Amino acid sequence: MEATQDAMRRKLKEFGQDHVFRFWEQLDAAGRASLTAQLEDIDFPLVQKLVDTWVADTPSAVPFKTIEPVSIIPVPSPGDVAAAEALAAGEAAFRAGRVGLVLVAGGQGTRLGFPGPKGSFPISGVTGRTLFEFHADKICNLQNRYGQTLPWYIMVGESNEAATKYFFQEHDNFGLNEADVIFFKQSMMPCVDGEGKFILDAPGHLAMNPNGHGGCIPGLVESGIVSDARARGIDTLSYFQVDNWAANIADPYFIGYHLLRGGDMSSKSNAKISLREPVGVHCVCDGVAQVIEYTELDIYPRLLETDADGAMIFPAGNTAIHVLSVDFIESVYNAFQDFPWHCSHKKVPYLNGSGALVEPDTPNAFKFETFVFDALRYINHPPVVLDIDCTTEFTPTKQMTGNDSVETARITMVKMWSGWLEEAGCLVLRDDAGGATIDIEISPRFALDRAEFLAKTEGWDWPSEGRIIIGPDGVLR
Ligand code: UD1
Repeated sequence: MEATQDAMRRKLKEFGQDHVFRFWEQLDAAGRASLTAQLEDIDFPLVQKLVDTWVADTPSAVPFKTIEPVSIIPVPSPGDVAAAEALAAGEAAFRAGRVGLVLVAGGQGTRLGFPGPKGSFPISGVTGRTLFEFHADKICNLQNRYGQTLPWYIMVGESNEAATKYFFQEHDNFGLNEADVIFFKQSMMPCVDGEGKFILDAPGHLAMNPNGHGGCIPGLVESGIVSDARARGIDTLSYFQVDNWAANIADPYFIGYHLLRGGDMSSKSNAKISLREPVGVHCVCDGVAQVIEYTELDIYPRLLETDADGAMIFPAGNTAIHVLSVDFIESVYNAFQDFPWHCSHKKVPYLNGSGALVEPDTPNAFKFETFVFDALRYINHPPVVLDIDCTTEFTPTKQMTGNDSVETARITMVKMWSGWLEEAGCLVLRDDAGGATIDIEISPRFALDRAEFLAKTEGWDWPSEGRIIIGPDGVLR
């Protein structure tokens, strides 16, 4: 053990990071072993390269010759033959048990300011139903609908793994089979300060961040998920983010288009509402499918151009909903070391000279991450990008109030469900602005969409006042 620790000290000196041993004398054997273990997982040459690129310098834009909009498949409309074919192909894949789910939930969720894993946030303002519960209810519904198990692979990070697993145990996996809810862990990257130095947030602990959702590519392969999927006969994985309660987590139309037109990786997009909306932008750079992240728009000003009528030339916002084939994940794994890294400037607590923990008011640290959508550049077919109806599929929750918030998610829920209820013959009381004034909640285990809701509630007697809650058991309360 001592030999390992000595070798580590020499390595840290070589990379100019030996300040992390400042409190070594105060640490007991367990503390020393834990700091050494943390350091052993770090790829020092990689971190040095990222510091040289992002901290000591400003990375230059990739000199694309052309950046063009991606072509979008519209929201299916009645009579759309291609959409009907896609639906049939997607439903056949579900019935054959070829579909699994990947949820990325390893992020730190700092903007929401919620102490637990983001998925355990009570997104429903009526019953307190959590994001995880909504997703699980959807899975139960789909499993009943197609008579097949949809294994749920959930990516967690160092900081939320234990709490996430405990939350699932506490809730009996929300009615899903324990064997079909499989967690895998992403790797961590050290945060660095403005000098490119590692940051201590405790005497024997480095401040780290998860390596971005691109980390799901090595995570899926190295944790054995790809083998598990293959053993179950699954060749197609539907990918979504924990923060979007409305996500159509496994959409047969989308999966059908993916299988018929592509097969490697496909995406759903949502028309941006403003040029600066904080969503990535789907585009084609030098003939290669890409998403350029919103934080990098100024590096590629072409993406902010409008036409003569003022309309956006690049409206395709990234919803972070994708489908990937298991084969593609394996092939991209071999290219993961070539994935670009991205950098953000964040507030990270640190120990000051006297060893006291400081919570900074302004960003003091650089975080490095990889993004899953950078896998798109490796697809071997034209991009498959499907438009969506944002009310029913895309209400990400990044903060408590304002845009993309808990507040807007709750408004969207009520907007969607009140429309279904009125179509089903229920009187929904509304205020002058048209907002429903009663509490409404419908479990997606009961109805995933409008058509299913109308079919299941045909002939129901609705109460003339009071709230409307339909739980996973389908009982109206
Ligand atoms: C993300 C997308 C953006 C997209 C928007 C849609 C990125 C970099 N950008 O923005 O293009 O338009 O969502 O809502 O993702 N996560 C992990 N591990 C990590 C980091 C994140 O699992 O290391 C998960 C989070 O738990 C979350 C999701 O990835 O579910 C997105 O992360 P977030 O930081 O919220 O991304 P945004 O900046 O909101």
